[in-house]
Amino acid sequence: MEINKTLENLRIDYQSEYLDLKDCEKDPLKQFDKWLVESLKAECDEPNAFILSTVKKDQPRSRVLLLKGIHDQQFIFYTNYQSSKGSELDQNSKVAMTFLWLPLQRQVRIEGVVNKVSEETSNDYFQKRPRGSQLGAIASPQSQRVENREALEKMFAETETKFKNIELIPRPSHWGGYGVTPTLIEFWQGRNNRMHDRICYVKAGDTWELQRLAP
Ligand SMILES: Cc1cc2nc3c(=O)[nH]c(=O)nc-3n(C[C@H](O)[C@H](O)[C@H](O)COP(=O)(O)O)c2cc1C
Repeated sequence: MEINKTLENLRIDYQSEYLDLKDCEKDPLKQFDKWLVESLKAECDEPNAFILSTVKKDQPRSRVLLLKGIHDQQFIFYTNYQSSKGSELDQNSKVAMTFLWLPLQRQVRIEGVVNKVSEETSNDYFQKRPRGSQLGAIASPQSQRVENREALEKMFAETETKFKNIELIPRPSHWGGYGVTPTLIEFWQGRNNRMHDRICYVKAGDTWELQRLAP
């Protein structure tokens, strides 16, 4: 492949920041909040985007989603409950999330367990979405095979017509939120010579144990 020579030589040294155990918050969610705020300030693109990994039998599956809140010690995201990921989560509630903030040379890995958020929480958030996104959530049978782009456009147009005179579009029951309760959170800060900082919080009963990991 043409790109291989370039790939082998692509490398940058990370040296802008460091992460030390003594500077870490006791609560990893506070530490996460701090880093997310910093990634916003640093104008990282889509700082709330993360990769969600689920397990389908023995096959891991990943895709990008958007974090929409941190409430009651849970990371919240929204999706279609009937999507592929929805049925995978029905089968196995264990997930992994990965955030990447390249301009700050940072990664956060989270492992945990999901549950659906309350209907009230999903309703509240659905009403805050732009009308087009609300219609899209209703129109699109996420993860199902569609014949072509025209078929998709038709589904949207029909949904738009159906709700033409309805101001407040109700949340469809197949769409809503999940909350991830973390059991492990690792903060990775790029350093020079590939000697990166890795601070890992592991849940031990009601508390969090902190440890430094080799890069
Ligand atoms: C930047 C970005 C943000 C996304 N955010 C969401 C999201 O918040 N919710 C969602 O259901 N899909 C989101 N998607 C689409 C998913 O990556 C995925 O295609 C979709 O959820 C279907 O996944 P599944 O078939 O594995 O269930 C996003 C994609 C990208 C690239």
